[in-house]
Amino acid sequence: FSAVEVIRAKRDGARLTDEQIDWVVGAYTRGVVAEEQMSALAMAIYLNGMAAAETARWTAAMVASGETLSLRVGRPTVDKHSTGGVGDKITLPLAPLVAACGAGVPQLSGRGLGHTGGTLDKLESIPGWRARLTADEIQAQLVDVGAVICAATDGLAPADRKLYALRDVTGTVESIPLIAASIMSKKIAEGADALVLDVKCGSGAFMKTPEDARALAAALVDIGVSRGVRVSALITDMSVPLGRAVGNAVEVAEAVEVLRGGGPGDVVELTLALAREMLDLAGLSDVDPGEVLRSGAAYDVWAAMIRAQGGDPDAPLSQPGHVHTVVAASDGVLSTLDAYAVGVAAWRLGAGRARKEDSVQAAAGVVCHVKPGESVRAGDPLLELRTDTPEAVPAALAALDGAYAIAEAAVGRESLVLEVVR
Ligand code: URA
Repeated sequence: FSAVEVIRAKRDGARLTDEQIDWVVGAYTRGVVAEEQMSALAMAIYLNGMAAAETARWTAAMVASGETLSLRVGRPTVDKHSTGGVGDKITLPLAPLVAACGAGVPQLSGRGLGHTGGTLDKLESIPGWRARLTADEIQAQLVDVGAVICAATDGLAPADRKLYALRDVTGTVESIPLIAASIMSKKIAEGADALVLDVKCGSGAFMKTPEDARALAAALVDIGVSRGVRVSALITDMSVPLGRAVGNAVEVAEAVEVLRGGGPGDVVELTLALAREMLDLAGLSDVDPGEVLRSGAAYDVWAAMIRAQGGDPDAPLSQPGHVHTVVAASDGVLSTLDAYAVGVAAWRLGAGRARKEDSVQAAAGVVCHVKPGESVRAGDPLLELRTDTPEAVPAALAALDGAYAIAEAAVGRESLVLEVVR
């Protein structure tokens, strides 16, 4: 094979053969296909797409580029993956809840880039907590505690790690087949029996429209089916931040409220909807996650999970050096609060990073005191901007310009779960 031949084929709209795909993904991982060649191929795929069978083969080739975990847990394993949003701390209460219901939850997670937060960044605001575990530690913790949230081990899908970094700098991230193959290669390599996808849709998500979200959900489910993994997808609204907290430590605090039986209604609703779907796929549909949450058993798994990774679940979380409060200009009902704008504001305040090497501030973020549908009086606090770098406040305020509105009358709210794709 030659890389130029494969690039020309995709450039001219042909379907790549299984052999071409296996060769090009393997050769790229070994450094035989050059970065500039893979970037040309990624752009050709971005422009001309891939058929379902091509995407499935591409995924399989990325899985084969590295090791796969073979988990022996003694109970069904099921994982959740979100395509990324604003205030999306759902993994934090969900993984211990589903473990408390009887499944094993190996949740290999990522860091945030841009305006979307990362689960590992949030958990690292807990003093002592460690994201990096070996495959043996993951296995042992799954048996002892039932849930693990940690970084992917270096050997999992190395082709994806290389290709994702390349796509990030070549304008080829937003390709449905490449996103689907990227997500599923890591999840298949992780070796869970079943997977529930939370495909986010709206301003704060990668997929801005229901059509795109539906196409991504279908591509993800198709890959799962072709690889023998039980998969389903919920398409959920990401036009408004989830919960009231957006950032790192503030999101951990909100997740703990949910685990203790409180917390915002939308976070509880989505946690339970995803838990039911995961339990269904794991063959545990007779367990009621709402009851388990109320019993406190999910909180106990959370505390054990944090301790097992060196963290202190009772330690105070860091507080910001500076707080700037945005107040309501008039009486009324909040009619909109744009997820993307709040995500960018939190990022500017230091909760996210601009480059992979950057560090994040544990205490930075935005607290939304009022959510759409709730009443306010003039002068009431609307948004609390938290940061250790007060010079970042003007940029955060600029991001929030036009992001919320106060109406005179109440407005209806769309449901959070828009569609289920199985
Ligand atoms: N998340 C991933 O893991 N990969 C993508 O390509 C996009 C989002």
